[in-house]
Amino acid sequence: MSEHEVKIPARQARSYAIRIGSDILGSVWPQMDAEFPKRGKFVVTDRNLASAGHLDRLLGQRQVATFVIDPPGETSKHVNTVISIVEAMEKAYLGRDSLIVALGGGTVGDIAGFAAAIFKRGVPVVQIPTTTVAQADSAVGGKTGVDSSISKNAFGAFWHPAAVYIDVATLNTLDERQFRAGLVESVKHALIADSQYFDFLEDKLNDVLERKLDVLEELARYNCRIKGNVVEADPNEQNQRRMLNYGHTIGHAVEAASGFELLHGEAIAIGIIAAGMIEIELQLGRPDRLDRIRRILEKLGVPVKLPHNLAEDELIDLMKRDKKAVNKWPRFVLISEIGGVFCRQGQWAVEVDPDVVAKVLQKL
Ligand SMILES: NC(=O)c1ccc[n+]([C@@H]2O[C@H](COP(=O)([O-])OP(=O)(O)OC[C@H]3O[C@@H](n4cnc5c(N)ncnc54)[C@H](O)[C@@H]3O)[C@@H](O)[C@H]2O)c1
Ligand SMILES: [Zn+2]
Repeated sequence: MSEHEVKIPARQARSYAIRIGSDILGSVWPQMDAEFPKRGKFVVTDRNLASAGHLDRLLGQRQVATFVIDPPGETSKHVNTVISIVEAMEKAYLGRDSLIVALGGGTVGDIAGFAAAIFKRGVPVVQIPTTTVAQADSAVGGKTGVDSSISKNAFGAFWHPAAVYIDVATLNTLDERQFRAGLVESVKHALIADSQYFDFLEDKLNDVLERKLDVLEELARYNCRIKGNVVEADPNEQNQRRMLNYGHTIGHAVEAASGFELLHGEAIAIGIIAAGMIEIELQLGRPDRLDRIRRILEKLGVPVKLPHNLAEDELIDLMKRDKKAVNKWPRFVLISEIGGVFCRQGQWAVEVDPDVVAKVLQKL
């Protein structure tokens, strides 16, 4: 047997800009044309974004091949939608020199990003997020994917955007419940990385809820700085990026056990409270810290207690199936202070005794 080694050079470092503003949608296209002049553009959006007028604001009078996802939301985040997008791009004579523009929430961003990752072995994607979830979380970080008929995000790829444009004015048309639930990821960011950001949230939450544009811009800047830093340190989720999972271990189980009646952010709010209670049990935190966190979540109007119809054993069972579980038990991200993740032996997600978790779920 002979052997020949092929050395694949480490991928070149690449950076992208996140541009944040209010009412900037109308000026995005000329900027993209300047930055990506030779690329044929293809827009992916959904019906709600189109009927809210955001698609027209983005395109102006331009005629651009566009795929409008319908129905909007998770049911369309299926691999079949990606097939339709790829075929629509082929019909529009687009090739390897094209670029996908994703205008929408996390659903559109995940679908369009994944389509970009696989179309002709990969074309760039520009993310234009329009929800509190997408502007704080999904548009930055390069995780893309769609569901199979069996599980969520069964198809996926890391495909970092070529640019991100955040127009906080697009949030004006977002439904109140979606708007508030999405802000839980902002609270999470503050908790894991920046106590000053937490103070800002305490101080300015009313303005945020009134959707004051200058405050929403500042919020977006905090979020992008925090998420951007974590992603830079660990682009492919080897270790440090796991800190973004704060509140998510129990939160994901709650979300699934509710039959997805709870929005993701609403379930994560419960998960954040649960993490806080675990921290108290492990003497990593005191009740007054958890009170501050609870107050902010209550003001957001998201749940801070387990709904009565959710059984603890079912939650434990779901946690054992967590995709990040080791020997059928997940790791937990915990904080030792507001703005600081507890790190044990270089690990950002740590083991917690199942009895402690069971006790917390009972109290929750
Ligand atoms: N890739 C990641 O890192 C990442 C992170 C978090 C969430 N996600 C994914 O994101 C998805 C959820 O995203 P989401 O919470 O943004 O929800 P979404 O994209 O489904 O949007 C929620 C609803 O709001 C509508 N909408 C969006 N923007 C609007 C606007 N500006 N005005 C009016 N209506 C608007 C949508 O049409 C939809 O009906 C999930 O599939 C989740 O898995 C991915
Ligand atoms: Zn989340």
